[in-house]
Amino acid sequence: MEELLMILISSVLVCVSLYYYIFKIRVNGTKNKRLDQHKLPPGSTGWPIIGETLEYLRTGKKGVPEKFIADRRNKYKNSSYYSSANCKVFKTSLLFEDMAVLCTAAGNKFLFSNEKKLIKSWWPPHLDKLIFADSAPDEKAKAFITEESTRFRNTMAPYLKPAGLQKYVGTMDTFTKKHLDMYWEDGKDDDQVIKAHPLAKRYAVTMACRLMLDTEDQQVFNKLENLTKDLSSGFTSLPIDLPGTQFNRAIRGSRQLREEIKNIVTQRRIHLSTRKVDEDVDGLDILSSLIMDTSSDGQGLSDSEIASKLYGVIVSGYDTFSSTLAAIVMCLAELPHVYDAVLQQRQIAESKAAGELLNWADIQKMKYSWSVACEVMRLLPPNSGTFREATSDFVYEGYLIPKGMKLKWSVHSTHKNPEYFPDPEKFDPSRFEGQGPPPYSFVPFGGGPRMCPGKEYSRLKMLVFMHNVVTRYRWEKVFPDEKFVWNPALVSTKGLPIRVFPHNKSQSN
Ligand code: HEM
Repeated sequence: MEELLMILISSVLVCVSLYYYIFKIRVNGTKNKRLDQHKLPPGSTGWPIIGETLEYLRTGKKGVPEKFIADRRNKYKNSSYYSSANCKVFKTSLLFEDMAVLCTAAGNKFLFSNEKKLIKSWWPPHLDKLIFADSAPDEKAKAFITEESTRFRNTMAPYLKPAGLQKYVGTMDTFTKKHLDMYWEDGKDDDQVIKAHPLAKRYAVTMACRLMLDTEDQQVFNKLENLTKDLSSGFTSLPIDLPGTQFNRAIRGSRQLREEIKNIVTQRRIHLSTRKVDEDVDGLDILSSLIMDTSSDGQGLSDSEIASKLYGVIVSGYDTFSSTLAAIVMCLAELPHVYDAVLQQRQIAESKAAGELLNWADIQKMKYSWSVACEVMRLLPPNSGTFREATSDFVYEGYLIPKGMKLKWSVHSTHKNPEYFPDPEKFDPSRFEGQGPPPYSFVPFGGGPRMCPGKEYSRLKMLVFMHNVVTRYRWEKVFPDEKFVWNPALVSTKGLPIRVFPHNKSQSN
C-alpha cells in the first residue's frame, strides 16, 4: 500500500516539477522599496515542491550530512555579497518550503538571539498533526508545537533544571543498575551478544516512565514503549495520512499514547484524593507534584494538560537521547584509550560504601565523561537542527530575507567545520576542556530561548548510564565497520549488536 502510494506521489511530483521547471515559476521579493535593492541569498531551490530534499536526505543516509552544506558553501562562495567572504547563507528548498540556511556560528547566534524580534520558531505542518494527533477538538485548546513547547518549558522547568533534578540522581542510579541486570546481564544470548541501540531506546522510555510517572510496571513500560515507537516512526515517514500508511499508524500511536498517559494521571489523581492532608508533600514524585501544584492560577492543571507535558518528556527524549547513548557505546568500543579514561570513574564507585548510590556531587566529578558525550554529539548529533520563520523583511549578510521565508540552522554547518574544530574527524574530548569550542559552534541542543529544555535531564541520564556501564563491563562491536547514519534521524545501521564482558567475570577468568 505504502509503495503504491510512493509511486503515485512520485509520478505526480515529477509531472508538477516538470511543469514548474519549464515555466520557471518563482515567487520572490518584498514590498519594501528600501530592501528591494538586496538580492535573495545565492542558491538553488532545485525541483519545484521537492526542492533539494532528496539530495539533503541522500547525504545524511551516506553518513555525511555536512557535505550538503559544505558543497553549497563552496559553490556560492564567489557570489557572496561581500566577494571576498565565504558564503554564510544560501537558499534551498527542503520539506516543501523555500528556505535560507545560515551556515556559520555567527548565523546560529543570529537565529538564537533574534527570537521574537525578527524571527519565530517554525515546524513543518505535518509534525503538528503527528504530535497533536487531533487531540484538541476545540479551537481554544488547539495548540501548535511552538506554543506547546513554551507551556512545556514553563511547567516542567522546576523538574528539568539542575536544582530540580538533583534529588533524582539516586533513583536514576538504581533504575540504571536494574536495567543493566535485566538486559545487559540476563538479556545476553549464548554468544554474550546484546543489541545496544534498541536497548538504549528501552532505557530512554522506561527511565522517563520511572521518573515522570513513578511506575516500574513492565506492562505499562511495554505499552508506552510500543506506542512511542509507532509515533516515532512518523517523524521519518512520508507525511501521508491515509489508512495503511506508516504516518497514519504513527498518528494513531500518538493519540493512544496521550490517552494512556492521561489514564495514569487520572488514576493517580483519584489515589491522591484519598490521602491524608498532612502527608509529606515534599516527598512527592513528579506526577503527584504536577497534580497537586496549584501555584499558577489556584486551580492547577487538568489531566490532559499534565498528560501533554509528560508525553512531551517521553517523546522528545526517545530518539535523540537513545541514539546518543548508543553512539556513546559505539565510540567507547572503538576507542579503548577513551574507554580507559572514562573507567577512571571507578574511583567514584570504589569510594562508596556497599549499596551507596550516586549523588549530585559525584556527577560534578564526571567532567571527562561529559566531554566524551559532547564529542560524540559533535560527530554524531542526534538532532540535525530546526527551523525558524522571518516575521518581517530584513537583510542578513547583505541578502534579503523576506517576511515569511523559512530559515534553517544546522549542527552540520559547524560541528565538522575545521574553522571551529581543527582536524574535525578526530575524536578528541579535550576540545571541551578549558574555554571549550568557539561560541555557537557546538549546538547539539540548539540555543537561545528555544534551546532544548531537556538538556540537563539528558546530561544527567547520560552520565549515570556511562558510569554504570563502564564500571561493570567492557564490550566490543559484533560488526566492526558498523556506523551511524542520518535516515533522516540518527540511526545505527544494524542496531549495534555488541559482545559484553562483565569485569568481574573477565577478572576471575
Ligand atoms: C540527547 C538528547 C537531546 C538532544 C540532542 C536534543 C536536541 C534538541 C534540539 C536541537 C532542539 C531544538 C532547539 C532549537 O530549536 O533551538 C530541541 C528542542 C526541544 N527538546 Fe530536546 N534534545 C534532547 C533531549 C530532550 C529531552 C529528554 C526532552 C524532554 C525533557 C527534550 C525536549 C525538547 C523540547 C520540548 C524542545 C522544543 C523546545 C522549543 O521549541 O521551545 N529534548 N532538542
